Amino acid sequence: MYQCIKNTFGIEAKANRWLEYHSEEELQRMVSVLQDERVLHVGGGSNLLFTQDFDGTVLHSGIRCVMPVASDADYVWIRVGAAIIWDDFVAYTVANGWSGAENLSLIPGEVGASAVQNIGAYGVEAKDLIDKVECVSLKDGTRRVFRNEECDYGYRSSIFKHALKGQYAVTYVTYRLMKRFVPHLEYGNLRNQLSSVAKLTPADVRRKIIEVRRSKLPDPKVIGNAGSFFMNPIVSYEKFESLRAQYPQMPFYEMPEGVKIPAGWMIEQCGWKGRSLGRAGVYEKQALILVNRGGATGKEVVRLCETIQQDVANKFGIEIHPEVNFI
Ligand code: EPU
Repeated sequence: MYQCIKNTFGIEAKANRWLEYHSEEELQRMVSVLQDERVLHVGGGSNLLFTQDFDGTVLHSGIRCVMPVASDADYVWIRVGAAIIWDDFVAYTVANGWSGAENLSLIPGEVGASAVQNIGAYGVEAKDLIDKVECVSLKDGTRRVFRNEECDYGYRSSIFKHALKGQYAVTYVTYRLMKRFVPHLEYGNLRNQLSSVAKLTPADVRRKIIEVRRSKLPDPKVIGNAGSFFMNPIVSYEKFESLRAQYPQMPFYEMPEGVKIPAGWMIEQCGWKGRSLGRAGVYEKQALILVNRGGATGKEVVRLCETIQQDVANKFGIEIHPEVNFI
């Protein structure tokens, strides 16, 4: 094993080899040669936790192109290669005056992963903007195009994370942006924070989101992390009412399928914010984020994860689950 696998947690992990392709045809040729070999397809490594080396081949897309492919009075459709850095794509849409992606500014990772994870922030999710996802099968190299409705999108989930996990590589995602600016300012304090701006543009929203994220979230170049480590659990109304009676100050968001409780708040209530277990820790400013305090192994992060899960279950009777993929 000799090839190091890049990951924003800064955890050392190796694979037998690393291959990058630059077209669908090149990927198809690789798939036909790899046959039964173990394959792990990665993006920017911003949502991975390596608990061991990977005994197989790591594939990475090098398809980097951004092209408007259609347009009407209201919308523009952009076909984006999976290897484009997500935030470069957001910057491009905002520079063109198109709206929709600005709330998703500064999310780490690449465009391919945006469609797999259904990335989301500040009241917007990738699924709200995705038109279709082009893929190549890692089993037999066949091409398949998934329309948005076929991707089974939900909160931080998609068909590519569940029913078809590990079976397809995303090669292109077609995003549909709006020509007219429709701001989404309902989340948290955004509306207030932008109230002094006279004629709001997507660029103003992007600037504010970048400022908020920089103030709350750790930069992986400085301190290893994978963004939110856990997903926010969605509980039944019954469970929510009983918790609220006990914790009247508990933040919550009503969703069609129940009530979302911020896991970061629960982890903080358990006393974990800013604490460490070995070389893994909980970020001081956002308890949903686990960090590598320097030289942590994946197993140390897993131990911290499991201890926190247990504490949250004991105190609130709620199971929280990682959004990060364990390898
Ligand atoms: N909270 C605490 N303590 C904490 C963290 C949060 O009390 O340590 C409370 C906050 O005060 C607030 C509530 O929990 O009342 C929600 O916090 P926040 O707005 O920071 O958002 P979040 O639910 O913790 C989610 C996403 C983030 C995204 C933000 C903003 C998930 C798993 N995470 O976090 O996404 O940036 O909302 O939309 O849904 C990511 O996926 O990597 C990510 C950073």
